Amino acid sequence: MTRLHDPSAHTFASDNYAGAHPEVLQALVDASGGHVGSYGADPYTARLREVVVEQFGEGAELDPVLTGTGANVAALQALVPRWGAVVCATTAHVYTDEGGAPERLGGIKLLTVPTPDGKLTPELIDRQAFGWGDQQRPQPLAVTITQSTELGTVYTPDEIRAVTDHAHALGMRVHLDGARLANAAAALGLPLRALTRDAGVDSVSLGGTKNGLVLGESVVTFSEEARAGLVYLRKMDAQLVSKMRFVSAQFLAMLEGDLWRRSAASANARAVRLAAGLADLPGVTITQSVDANAVFVVLPREVVEPLRAAHHFYDWDRQTGEVRLMCSFDTTDEHVDRFVDDARALLT
Ligand SMILES: Cc1ncc(COP(=O)(O)O)c(C=O)c1O
Repeated sequence: MTRLHDPSAHTFASDNYAGAHPEVLQALVDASGGHVGSYGADPYTARLREVVVEQFGEGAELDPVLTGTGANVAALQALVPRWGAVVCATTAHVYTDEGGAPERLGGIKLLTVPTPDGKLTPELIDRQAFGWGDQQRPQPLAVTITQSTELGTVYTPDEIRAVTDHAHALGMRVHLDGARLANAAAALGLPLRALTRDAGVDSVSLGGTKNGLVLGESVVTFSEEARAGLVYLRKMDAQLVSKMRFVSAQFLAMLEGDLWRRSAASANARAVRLAAGLADLPGVTITQSVDANAVFVVLPREVVEPLRAAHHFYDWDRQTGEVRLMCSFDTTDEHVDRFVDDARALLT
C-alpha cells in the first residue's frame, strides 16, 4: 500500500485525528493469526473481563463496542425504560454531536440544562428533574455527565458524588460519558474507579479511540441493573463487533499496564503548556479552566485563519471567536511551541 499522508502531520483539531499508539498496534499484531471464537468468545475478551475487575472492582463488566455514540446509546437504553428521559448538559456530546442518536436510535428523550463549564450540579439537574408521575412529561430517570467534559473541564470525585447522591435520591440513575475518562483520571492522579464506581456512577462509556486505540469504545457497568439487556441492545444498535478480539486486545494494551495514564497525562501536559504559552499574548483569552487535554480560547479574528491553515483546529463559538485546541497522546512540546510561536508572530 502507498502511504497517502504525511506521517509527521500534527493538528489541534481533535484527539481522534491522531494515529494509534505503537503499543496498541503491536497488540493488534499479537492478537492476529489463527482462529478464535467470534463475538467475544475469545481469550482476549476473557482476559479483558479480568482486567476490568482489577481496574474497577468486583462485579464490574466491560462490553466492547465500536463507537462512542453507540456506547452512549446502548448504556442509556439499559439504564432507563421506554418512557425514560435523561438529563444532560446542553454541551453534552449526546445532545450536540451524535446526530440525535440517543433520541432517534435509542428512543430516549434528552432534557438539557445550560452550564457555564460543561458540568452538571445538583442545582442544575433540578432544572429538569421534576414531573414524575405527570403523564404529559418525559420522565427524568437518569442523568448523564461527561468526564472530562466537552469544555475540557474535569469533575472532582466530590462533584461527581454530589451528582450521583442527588440523582439517586430522586430515583434517577447516573451514566458517565468517559470518552476522555483517562484524561480526567490522569489529571487528578486518580484511578479510573475513583471517578466512576467509587463516586456512585452506575455505568460508563469508556473511551479508547481518543487515547490511542485504532478504534473501539466500551460500556462498563457496575451492577446487573445497569447492564440489563445491554448485550441485546448492543446488537440492536449495530455495535456488536464480530472480530471482537481486536477491540479487546487494544483495550488490554491500554488497561493492563499504565498506557492509558501515560498517554492521557502526556496530552494533558501539552494542553497546559499550550495554554501557558498563549495566555499572555495580546488579545488572547483562555475561556475555560484547562483541566485535561483541551484548550478553549478566544483568538483575535485576524489570526484565526492563518493559524488554522498551519495547525488545523475547530471553531467552538463563531460569534465570540472561541476555538477549541485539542492535544493528543502524540502531541509534543515542539508542536505546542510551534503553535505558540506562530500565534506570537501573528499578534506582535
Ligand atoms: C464526549 C464524547 N463522547 C463520545 C464521543 C464518541 O463519539 P464517536 O461516536 O465519534 O466515537 C466523543 C467523540 O468526539 C466525545 O467527544
